[in-house]
Amino acid sequence: MDKDTAEILIRTGPGTPMGKLMRRYWVPALLCSEIPEPDCPPVRVKLLGERLLAFRDTQGRPGLVEEFCAHRGASLFLGRNEEGGIRCSYHGWKYDINGRCLELPSAPQIAPKVRIKAYPCVERGDIVWAYMGPAERRPEPPELEWCLVLPSHRYVSKRLQQCGYLQAMEGGIDTTHASWVHRYELDTDPMHKQAAANKYIKADRNAVFDIEEVPHGLTIFGRRNGEPDSYYWRITQWVFPWYTLIPPFGPHALGAHIWVPVDDANCWAWNINFFPDKPLPEDELRAMKEGKGIHCRYVPGTFVPAANPDNDWLVDRSAQKNGRSFSGVEGFAIQDASLQESMGPIQDYSRESLVPTDKAIVMARRRLARAVQDLEKGIEPPALDPGSQRVRSASVLLDRSIKAHEWSRTALGDIQKEPIYTV
Ligand code: FES
Ligand SMILES: [Fe+2]
Repeated sequence: MDKDTAEILIRTGPGTPMGKLMRRYWVPALLCSEIPEPDCPPVRVKLLGERLLAFRDTQGRPGLVEEFCAHRGASLFLGRNEEGGIRCSYHGWKYDINGRCLELPSAPQIAPKVRIKAYPCVERGDIVWAYMGPAERRPEPPELEWCLVLPSHRYVSKRLQQCGYLQAMEGGIDTTHASWVHRYELDTDPMHKQAAANKYIKADRNAVFDIEEVPHGLTIFGRRNGEPDSYYWRITQWVFPWYTLIPPFGPHALGAHIWVPVDDANCWAWNINFFPDKPLPEDELRAMKEGKGIHCRYVPGTFVPAANPDNDWLVDRSAQKNGRSFSGVEGFAIQDASLQESMGPIQDYSRESLVPTDKAIVMARRRLARAVQDLEKGIEPPALDPGSQRVRSASVLLDRSIKAHEWSRTALGDIQKEPIYTV
């Protein structure tokens, strides 16, 4: 990718072209459980390069405001969350979730004129989402399938990934890597084992791609050899601007990610497992909480993975040599994170050498770049209508004569009516 396009895609701070595009969507900000009750301690949140503060007011409403007090710029992180607002500890100025100054003790007459930046929030799918764009353009809240299922049917985690969102998200639309870095753990991980898919993924390391541009983004059809009369298809959905839906593995829960910029060199990797129609089994839920599958273990008290760039992702050379792990890094999530972080905080896109198996990545970049250009011309971004986000991934064996994109029109057309397709 040329340097100019890369600059457009990776910079997401206020006023940047990609920053403007992303601010037209609801932004996943933090877990609801990080601000568990009214008047609980506030939490610092950095999103799209902006330093913000989340808190839950006395009525239980979540708020996301700029971190710093309008008076002298002290951090409201040190403030007191009390009686309907957050009060700066320095001189007592107090703000509500809408950023209005409720009290300014030394000059009360000025209070009505003072505001700090505040973004509207909604809670959905165990996540507090914020809308950081122009007020008159606010879309309806997201309706991805996992957002709408019962809480017992879903598990949501997040981890800090120390690289730009784009190189992280590109791992989510690149099915080829599953045949390599994840190959030895497909059969042992509690959320991947016993899936027939594993056999095909391991046997055929050169998926052939067929990619369709769709209103929500891209549907990516990755074809591998299946049985003698069939192909094995992994069908991934990429939904504007940062959602990926992972093709399922056998009987296990469906999986999804969101890749949200913290700033240009860090992102939140959100990880979701869910069933549309039944609770997660207890043993799988326990495994997710222990960091298996697409989740991870943490440095205690943080969302930084225990295996991170500072400790070389705890790479285990004997596990690598003995065939317990392809790269020596443990667990799907950190296998991905380690390789993506190893590219550097912001990958040098001018030095890569893309090949046909990278077609999905190329198309996603083109669509993002086009959406940025369109927005500058006044054309509305894709997939703002939440109905268009109601799509599903699939993992399926199809007769060799069947065209997967034609099959998907019915099988993945109305997810309310169709079963989950998974092998
Ligand atoms: S700096 Fe916040 S009240 Fe003075
Ligand atoms: Fe992966």
